[in-house]
Amino acid sequence: MTTKRPVILDVDTGIDDALAILYALLSPRLQVLGITTCFGNGDVENTTRNTLAMVEMSRVSVPVFRGAADPLVGKWAPQAEAFHGGNGLGNAPIEEPHTSPEHLSATEYLRAAILEHPGEITLITLARLTNLAIALKNDPSLAQKIRRVVVMGGAAFVGGNVTPVAEANIWGDPDAAWVVFHSGVPITMVGLDVTMQVNISDAQVQKMDPDRPYAPVMKQALDFYLSAYNPGAISGARQAPLHDPLAVAVAEDPTLCTTSDLSIDIEREGTITRGMTVVDQRGWLDLTPNAAVCRSVDAPRFLRDFCQRLGFPIGSD
Ligand code: RIB
Ligand code: CA
Repeated sequence: MTTKRPVILDVDTGIDDALAILYALLSPRLQVLGITTCFGNGDVENTTRNTLAMVEMSRVSVPVFRGAADPLVGKWAPQAEAFHGGNGLGNAPIEEPHTSPEHLSATEYLRAAILEHPGEITLITLARLTNLAIALKNDPSLAQKIRRVVVMGGAAFVGGNVTPVAEANIWGDPDAAWVVFHSGVPITMVGLDVTMQVNISDAQVQKMDPDRPYAPVMKQALDFYLSAYNPGAISGARQAPLHDPLAVAVAEDPTLCTTSDLSIDIEREGTITRGMTVVDQRGWLDLTPNAAVCRSVDAPRFLRDFCQRLGFPIGSD
């Protein structure tokens, strides 16, 4: 039997985070040691509650650690309601979780877990990079003890999704992203370049396996998500990107994407470019690459595995 790869998820649950949590917890190849939460698609109380609810619906037991409530600079403000609903899960009614977050904070847990398993843990960040940035600021030596950070975030060669150039997870705390991208930790960047290529369709959501414990909640949440991504489209012809699940898939199987080793910097101040992931495309600055940036994805392979694992029909089944 092959050993499972130890991972920690950092989330701001969020509809696509919810799918990513299920996809990771039901993985035959990943061992999720813990899940840390952050503000983002809701305030941190809300994203933590949604995370606990999704873990309970997965029927897998894993500890959850509450994380940052605000970015490194400034305060969190609602921004994602149009895509994730007022409760972060498309306004689907969620039962109050029976479980609670652990007593350690997200950053305390990250440090303890990384020191306990030096060089072994892959951190999959599906949210603002605030928790990891705080952990690295408190103990910069952690960067050498993390196996790899798979970051869902950024847009290297395509436009942004919050501003013309910025992707939500970087835009939501560019100072934290700067700390992480300048820390020396090995990074794989799963940005909009590839996440916009993997979509779930109306037909797949409608035909989701009704016997899965999470089916009622996720069906309603995904209906909201499909409407948000396809304003004005008729039901039945909609599709929406699986940003966060793709990052989990890349952590599980890096061959899903082709990558280029590039130097990425983070714009922290620009009035119209704040949160941009700036690529030294021509190598003029002669900088050492700091990220393996995903350039293309085998979308059919990812979608086949994702759908099988979570109970959606494959393609037009
Ligand atoms: O840009 C997509 C990312 O922003 C995803 O992680 C989504 O959940 C939101 O946080
Ligand atoms: Ca997310």
